[in-house]
This record gives sequence, structure tokens and C-alpha cells, in this order.
Amino acid sequence: MSVIHHRRPVNKTSSPSRPRAMDDSGSAASSRHPTHLGVIREEIRRIERYDPPFADRSVTNLSLNEHYAPPSSQIQEALCNLDPMRLVTYDTEVAERLRARIAAREGVSIENIVLCPGSSSGLQLLFSCLAGGPLLVPSICWSYYLNLARLHGFPVARYDLQERAGEFQVEPASVAAALERDRPTLLLFIQPHMPTGALAPVELVLGSAEGARGTLVLVDEAYHGFSPAAVSVAREVLTHPNLIVSKTFSKYFGLAGIRMGYLVASAPVAEQLGKAASPFSVPFVSSLVALAALDSEAHYRALAVEMMAVKDAFARRVDAIPGLRAYRSHGNFLLVELPDADAAARAEADILAAGVAVRSARAYGLPSFLRISLGAAETMDRVATALERSEARHAAR
Ligand SMILES: Cc1ncc(COP(=O)(O)O)c(C=O)c1O
Repeated sequence: MSVIHHRRPVNKTSSPSRPRAMDDSGSAASSRHPTHLGVIREEIRRIERYDPPFADRSVTNLSLNEHYAPPSSQIQEALCNLDPMRLVTYDTEVAERLRARIAAREGVSIENIVLCPGSSSGLQLLFSCLAGGPLLVPSICWSYYLNLARLHGFPVARYDLQERAGEFQVEPASVAAALERDRPTLLLFIQPHMPTGALAPVELVLGSAEGARGTLVLVDEAYHGFSPAAVSVAREVLTHPNLIVSKTFSKYFGLAGIRMGYLVASAPVAEQLGKAASPFSVPFVSSLVALAALDSEAHYRALAVEMMAVKDAFARRVDAIPGLRAYRSHGNFLLVELPDADAAARAEADILAAGVAVRSARAYGLPSFLRISLGAAETMDRVATALERSEARHAAR
């Protein structure tokens, strides 16, 4: 039997529609020796990988905005009672049950809900459906959004977030001007905003959707549920066809490990998104755990109330340290401003020496800030004490 090797003719001129071949190190290779990387889209070869900050589990981690509490007893029970045979088959039944429960919780119908394995996957799905850019995002923004934009070759425009009297605020005039000037395909609000903890007025969010019908208005509500001041706009998709709300079980329900999130959208938009999702994309075990989480709403509500009280007490202690300021936040984290970048780096190291990892906000363009996730009361006490000692030691020099 003879084996026929199909050889592609070597193309001497570089075609604009074909990426230039890259060698395995990612650098341009001679077009006479194309390699497999040459078929990967140029946008992907150019972007940096999104690397979540390193989480050292030997210390208490307050750098990833995770929850600190163990899963509810209902969740632990659901996992103990899991029928192993359910792992053998593709699931639709439990996922559909979850969709219906989420729809009821959000006050919409099942057609408005697209489940996804983590809300970041939901964002990826949404971006993969966009016809083009530009995107309009806050001046301070989670880098994953920018990565997704680069991945798809979408240009990015910005609106302003201003710091005023101890909190960050979205500038409505800046949103309106950018909508007019840039005519974006997608306008992003993060409610509460990460990393600042700010809340844009609901009227601004809905008014933007009403005023720019050709723009999809995405509201990332990953940190919804902690602060009673943060109002979800999820049910507004019923009257605002260009509104999309993204939610997750990672934060309020403290279930980052199950990778479960969802998009809420008007039925026609949700239908299009659903077509682009991969089949059976939500794991059965995650759906089961998410259902048990919804059965434990009272437990998580009580935890959120407790966390907000701990946050307020922590912020008061920080504000009492000369030169430091805690910013008002509606999420399970807060920003602490130090006198300068050196002071922030020093405080980060001193808090780590006390056994707690917090996150520098340098990557957000805020080098003199630390972003500190909310931990249990005793952990926050440890962080506040480390900050007090760090500043007192420095002041004494
Ligand atoms: C603003 C924001 N949106 C979305 C997410 C994604 O969460 P997940 O993919 O765990 O649902 C995060 C995670 O930290 C986030 O900070």
C-alpha cells in the first residue's frame, strides 16, 4: 500500500488573510518552514496569557475575592448523597432544573437564562458572539475584559471613574459622551465595580440601555448580593432588549470551585448566545451544588450581613491610621489607599509576614492601593493589626 503525502505548495508571497508562520517559541519563522503555530490567530499569539494572581494556600488568601466560609450544610449533604451513576451520562435534567430555579430567583423566565461554567466563560461566550467593536469599559477595569477584547481584535474605549470623598464614582457625563463619540457595540458596567467597590446609579445603567439601542449593555454583577445598596437589574432584561446581566456562584455563594455562572438576557439575545455555547457545557455536579446553594439562601444572606459589619469595622480601623484610607465598597473586598507605592508594597509585605496575602492594585494603575478581600473577623483583625504596626514602625523611623 502506498502512502501519499499531501504537500502544500509553499506560498512565496505573504497573503494578508493568512498569518505569518511562527516557530515554537512564538517568533516569526521563515515562510518556507511553516509550523503548526502559524495557523493560530495572530490576535491570540500576540496577547499575554491571563494569569490569575498566584494563590499561596499556605497563607490565608485575601487576594482573589474568594469567600472564606465553608459550603452550606445543604451543599455538603447534596455531595454526600450524589448518585455516582449520574456522572456517567450527559446531564440536561439537573441543568434545566437549575435554569428554572435561577429564572424564578431573578424574576425572569427560563428562556432568559444561559448557564455557563463560571461567569468568565459567559463573558467569553458573549464576546465570541459580538460582530465587532469598539467596547466601552470603565477606566479601571478587570484585565480579563481587555484580554477578551484583544483576543477578538476589538478596539476599546474608556469612560471615567472619579475618586470623590472616599469612594469611586462612575462619571455619567463621560459615559454619555463616549456612547455618542464611540458608538460601541458593547458598554460594560461592573456592579459593584471591581476593584473599587463603586456602584453606578441604576438610572445611568438603564438610561444608557434605553438611549443606545444599537449597543449591548453588559452589567457584570459578579459581586452582587453582599451590599443591600446594590440593586440587580437582571429582571430589566424583560423590558430592555439590549441589556445583558452576568452573574456567578463564585462570590456571594462562595463556590468559585464549581465554576458556575449565568447570563440573563432578553429571550432573542439569549437564544443567539445559547446557539454559540458548547453542548453540555455545565457540569452535572456543579448544577447539583448550585441548586443546593439556592436552597441555602438564608445561610448566605446571614453571612453577607455579617461580612458587611466586619467590613465596616475594618474600614474604621484603617481610617484611624494616619495617612491611610479605606474606600467605600459594595463588594466582598475593599481598596485601601496608602501614602505612596512604597508604603503599599511595604504594607503588603508586612501583612504577608502576618500570614495573610492581599493584592496590590498596581495592575489596575493604582500602585499606592491594596485590594483586600473580606475574610473572617479574626483574619481582618490580623490584617488591621499588621497595617497599624507597619505604619507605626515606619513613622517611628
Ligand atoms: C469583575 C469580575 N467578573 C467576573 C468574574 C468571574 O468570576 P467567575 O468566572 O468565577 O464566575 C470575576 C472574578 O474574580 C470578577 O472579578
